[in-house]
Amino acid sequence: MMNLVLFGPPGAGKGTQGTLLAELRGMRRLSTGDLLRDAVREGTPLGVKAREYMDAGELVPDDVILGLIRDMLQGSTEAGAIFDGFPRTLPQAEALDGLLSDLGQPLSAVMVLNVDDEALVRRLSGRRSCPRDGSVYNVYTDRPKAENICDRCGEPLVHRADDEESTVRRRLQVYQDQTSPLVAYYEASATPVHHIDGDRDIADVQTDLVAALPR
Ligand code: AP5
Repeated sequence: MMNLVLFGPPGAGKGTQGTLLAELRGMRRLSTGDLLRDAVREGTPLGVKAREYMDAGELVPDDVILGLIRDMLQGSTEAGAIFDGFPRTLPQAEALDGLLSDLGQPLSAVMVLNVDDEALVRRLSGRRSCPRDGSVYNVYTDRPKAENICDRCGEPLVHRADDEESTVRRRLQVYQDQTSPLVAYYEASATPVHHIDGDRDIADVQTDLVAALPR
């Protein structure tokens, strides 16, 4: 059983690498961003509340996120979970520690994907996402086999509203101010933290990620 946090700024490749790793290791990828987008699409009260924050590039308040987390942990596979886009604040990190400790399944490692801001802005301008299964592609670097169609489920791909440049820049600032301090939080803990250069080919990043996994 292995529980990992995939950490990094918007567009660093958390979803891309998390999906590959989940397939490779039979782990479950748990993405708060995907859950929130599902709620927005379904128009649930949670989705209506979350949407204004997401469209503005701000974090959804902790009380909303903490409500999602316990549900997220239900039904995790025996191989463990990959947390993608969570935690993003100190209260979220402390809540995750508490829940995993209650389950007797401590965090195994934190993987930090590092990419320059300008590369991230360009990446996100080219991202296309599957609204059904969360798969991501890129018109510059990672095209689907059929134009604008998801390889995995055949759904037409979309350009996320929060991938517009001014919103991306706000998300990068929010990451810097509110989320990046968690690296120091984990470095001060017993959980191993691995820094990975995320600005290389997807396959090379995956190779490093797999090499850094706890044995
Ligand atoms: P979320 O969906 O989590 O977005 P994010 O963290 O901003 O990350 P992204 O999904 O944009 O990027 P990624 O790192 O997964 O990169 P990807 O693999 O897609 O959150 C969205 C919003 O929801 C937040 O702004 C917030 O409002 C809210 N939210 C979510 N969780 C929350 C929480 N816990 N608390 C509060 N609010 C929360 O790759 C990006 C692109 O680059 C793709 O096109 C991909 O094909 C391409 N690419 C990937 N790797 C490479 C590579 N190595 N080289 C070239 N291109 C690459």
